[in-house]
Amino acid sequence: MLSKKVEDALNAQINAELWSSYLYLSMSAHFAADGKAGFANWFRVQASEEKGHAMKLFDYIVSRSGKVDLQPITEVPKSWNSPLAVFEASLKHE
Ligand SMILES: [Fe+2]
Repeated sequence: MLSKKVEDALNAQINAELWSSYLYLSMSAHFAADGKAGFANWFRVQASEEKGHAMKLFDYIVSRSGKVDLQPITEVPKSWNSPLAVFEASLKHE
């Protein structure tokens, strides 16, 4: 059984991982709309990886008979001034 404090922290981290996934998906959408399919695919892979991190925590909470508590995901940026700006933003986020 998880303590409430640990469960809350794990749930907050799930939200952070899903926010990261959403950010990278937004970057993928940005590049897709700009005709840069390679960059779009690369960010889509990153989005999937971050979702995977969230799901590991999700499954851990469930395995310990805890309760996953999904909170709203705050808005992510949607556009950048250049491809370099996207990568600089992703590096800063990491
Ligand atoms: Fe992550």
